[in-house]
Amino acid sequence: MKLSVKMAFIVFSAMLLLIVTMCLLFYEVSQSFYKNQLQEGVEQRLTAHREIIEQYFYEETLQHVIVMEEHENDAQFVFFDENLAGWEATDEVTEKEVAEYRQWIDSQTNSEDGASALSRTTHHGIPHVYAYEPLIIENEIVGYLFVDEATPEFDETRQHLLWIMLSMFGGSTLLAGVFAWFMKHYIGRPLLRLKHTTERVADGDFDVKLRAASRDEVGELSRSIGLMVEQLRSYRDSRRSFLANVSHDLRTPLTYVKAYSSLISQSPDDAAAHAKVINSEATRMERLVDDLFQLTKLDEGHFTFAFERVEVASIVKEAIDTIKPYARQHDVFFNFEEPAVKLFINADHARLHQALLNVLTNAVKHTTNTVQVTVAKTEAEVEICIQDEGPGLTPEEAEKVWERFYRTDEARSTKDGGSGLGLAITKEFIEAHGGRVEARNLPETGASFHLYLPLLDVVE
Ligand SMILES: Nc1ncnc2c1ncn2[C@@H]1O[C@H](COP(=O)(O)OP(=O)(O)OP(=O)(O)O)[C@@H](O)[C@H]1O
Ligand SMILES: [Mg+2]
Repeated sequence: MKLSVKMAFIVFSAMLLLIVTMCLLFYEVSQSFYKNQLQEGVEQRLTAHREIIEQYFYEETLQHVIVMEEHENDAQFVFFDENLAGWEATDEVTEKEVAEYRQWIDSQTNSEDGASALSRTTHHGIPHVYAYEPLIIENEIVGYLFVDEATPEFDETRQHLLWIMLSMFGGSTLLAGVFAWFMKHYIGRPLLRLKHTTERVADGDFDVKLRAASRDEVGELSRSIGLMVEQLRSYRDSRRSFLANVSHDLRTPLTYVKAYSSLISQSPDDAAAHAKVINSEATRMERLVDDLFQLTKLDEGHFTFAFERVEVASIVKEAIDTIKPYARQHDVFFNFEEPAVKLFINADHARLHQALLNVLTNAVKHTTNTVQVTVAKTEAEVEICIQDEGPGLTPEEAEKVWERFYRTDEARSTKDGGSGLGLAITKEFIEAHGGRVEARNLPETGASFHLYLPLLDVVE
């Protein structure tokens, strides 16, 4: 069933239930009100008759009362003798009715004060009020006065209520229809549009346009879907460029391997030199595959970190010592500035070592002379800063260096340029430690790379 129809049905049923309950309540209340009013009126009239007859107990008085009652609409008046045998009545009273009245009074006789009741034995569907009063002269019952009054007002009220109910029913049906239209127009249709959009996205079309949506929940849903589509589009794009990068980076060394291996087969004399090239290219491929493997594992969340309390300066020094031989080859020197206190962090020793090596290797590659390394304490973090005297970074490059496969144009063109994964791995590792990374261009010359890690404690 469509949403709009469902909602309209719910509203319609709720309204109907309310209307029926209200009408029933109203009917009950008005019925008891009428009943009391009518009964009271009849009783008062009968009491007045009794009093006058008791006061002037003559045949004329009785006749006079009968004449008065003749003028009452919808009323029958009967005077019974003390045995309920003889009777006198207004014109239209029939024998059959008298018998019924007698029986009723008989059933009420345990009361000597008279009684009245709304009789359910109705004539033509109209309830009647029956009332009687015993006539007492000198402490003896000498007869009974009886009135039967029809209550057509009940019927009228019932008719009215029926009409009210019917018109409310019609009104609520109409309202439910309007509601259904409204729902269809403002909720059903936009949802259907979203359905079509998501179907297109499911078919691989990420260039769908979502219409400017309203500010309600449907609008919110549409905006979230828009965001999701955008994200999917960027995933698709990054997957494409990732595949392009990987295949490009693998193809270059493979070309060398192929070319040099065929050279070896043609002229075995230079085999040693050619094998060296093949080896270095194979090493490059191995590194690339290793890096990719690490990143994939990080993405899938399969990477387990063995955290322990480590002292930052010592781990930085260790990384510098590892890279020193390589730096010496490039005539690069390190200038390491230690903090006055020992700063401890929670870290996976091997991963942090690798994260540092990636940044340090870059610095050695790009600097002209020295690399400045500083470890310092900020408010709640430890900052490791690696600063070089190289060409530096444009603001855009400083943003992008952390992305996978990103290389500045200069690095891309050099043959020994890396694959552009080093800093991406560093970023992932540092973030897995609850830290963050930042690259800045230096005003004079060079770039600085900052790794921030949550501080565990300080030892003086
Ligand atoms: N200290 C630096 N000065 C200037 N540019 C840098 C510096 N460090 C990195 N870059 C730029 O950022 C790019 C990305 O660095 P990243 O370490 O991720 O990759 P890579 O060094 O090219 O390759 P890999 O590290 O995977 O072997 C580099 O190619 C280079 O263009
Ligand atoms: Mg690198």
